[in-house]
Amino acid sequence: MTLQEEIARRRTFAIISHPDAGKTTLTEKLLLFGGAIHVAGAVKSNKIRKSATSDFMEIERQRGISVATSVMGFEYRDVKINILDTPGHEDFAEDTYRTLTAVDSVIIVIDGAKGVETQTRKLMNVCRMRKTPVMVFINKLDRPCKDPFDLLDEVERELQIKVRPLAFPISSGTTFKGVYNLYEHNLSLFTSDERQTADASTVEIDDIASSELDGYVGERYAAQLRSDVELVDGVYDAFDREAYLRGEVAPIFFGSAVNNFGVRELLECFIRIAPSPRPSVTETRAVEPAEPKMTGFIFKIHANMDPNHRDRIAFMKICSGQFERNKNYLHVRSGKQLKFSAPTAFMAEKKSVIDFAFPGDIVGLHDTGTFKIGDTFTEGEKLKFTGIPSFSPELFRYIENADPMKFKQLSKGIDQLMDEGVAQLFTSNLNGRKIIGTVGALQFEVIQYRLEHEYGAMCRWEPISIYKACWIESDNAEQLADFKRRKHTNMAVDKHGRDVFLADTSYALALAQENFKDIRFRFTAEF
Ligand code: G4P
Repeated sequence: MTLQEEIARRRTFAIISHPDAGKTTLTEKLLLFGGAIHVAGAVKSNKIRKSATSDFMEIERQRGISVATSVMGFEYRDVKINILDTPGHEDFAEDTYRTLTAVDSVIIVIDGAKGVETQTRKLMNVCRMRKTPVMVFINKLDRPCKDPFDLLDEVERELQIKVRPLAFPISSGTTFKGVYNLYEHNLSLFTSDERQTADASTVEIDDIASSELDGYVGERYAAQLRSDVELVDGVYDAFDREAYLRGEVAPIFFGSAVNNFGVRELLECFIRIAPSPRPSVTETRAVEPAEPKMTGFIFKIHANMDPNHRDRIAFMKICSGQFERNKNYLHVRSGKQLKFSAPTAFMAEKKSVIDFAFPGDIVGLHDTGTFKIGDTFTEGEKLKFTGIPSFSPELFRYIENADPMKFKQLSKGIDQLMDEGVAQLFTSNLNGRKIIGTVGALQFEVIQYRLEHEYGAMCRWEPISIYKACWIESDNAEQLADFKRRKHTNMAVDKHGRDVFLADTSYALALAQENFKDIRFRFTAEF
């Protein structure tokens, strides 16, 4: 197969949702279709159980298990599908944001009874920023759901994207009859007797005008479907694939993941319309997947919690060319040539050493602490991929050394954990103290535990009252200098030496924005 053909047959995507909407279930059903697993329940996904939220060790243990399922590759109809798993727990949202930088499209799962929830909204913001094509699967139709038109409006309004239903449900809950596929013009009937457990069997009919439909779903629901479909065709423009690829319109599907209903339709449509690997942006130029030379970047580093295997796995997304085992590549940041003797690929729950990988693939690299998120590999060109964001953290604490004998260990530990992207480090201009900022409260516990167990260092947290950290920049050097002078006590630098304003309150931030019009206050920064 040529490089071009390998690229064309790849689909690299992530499934995102608010916890409990059905992401894990859908992932598993997709893997079943791909023959990657054979029994339900085989996927130990990145899902973090609700009961474990107060017990971060349990969460880390589950995250450890999930290394193997961080990427799930499988083949379906000659298409190579790579699903990138994302942690459901919102304290690990930043992991998810970074994973989104490595995908070419996204499937969003929404609970049909609950509609759009907070986490979905946040994740969609990241997709919108990157213009990632998204598809929506409205799940749990076997339960009483909101009205489908209301759901469509809600998705459009809350996720700020135009929608185009490609399927339409007939009722929901105990009277759920099935889904009409507007893309292929046929009907799948939900005829399972044991709705919660058994796979639904499907019946196909081609024409909803025919009285055959009444026979299957009853006159009332047949009439309802006909009028709904008419309304859909009247209200929504015809599906425009180009608009979907530009991230402007989201095709919508309905179904019930746990009943395996509507999943095949989603997958069939997905492989047909979802994008193959797209060009990647670097500081200097765009890199086309079909370029012959290999390029790739690290978007995620996963530490192993097992004390007997303290190594880390760095996940590299291949952006162009063909990756080869044992070939020298330039690690652009250090300027060193590195080669990998045991790069791994992930096929469902199995991890295996590979000889080659192609654009869109994710390769696991053994890391002993050398790599950072955002690191680029090439065949010699000094490229740096952009667009891997770090988000303004929301929780802050001073970190103090609790064991004076272990100063070095502490510094090294903090350094490496920050490189992994566990949290962000700021150094206060006021007193030179180190401040850790995170998106979730759990990270403080994680950091403390890992510093102790992996680096033999002890830390102590002290409170600091900060509302938000934002990166500041300006073309008006005078105003910037003036701002930094006046706000000296609220200024800090991040670990790349960039200026950060630590606003005490939302009022202080608003006031600063008002008074210093030439300064851009950024809530995301790029690595
Ligand atoms: P998540 O990864 O998005 O957090 O969600 P997950 O797939 O784990 O699903 C959350 C719960 O919703 C699970 O039930 C799952 O069985 C259920 N579920 C998923 N799809 C459907 C559906 O189409 N219909 C209905 N009725 N339920 C669905 P649970 O009781 O929390 O877990 P489990 O014990 O069943 O695994």
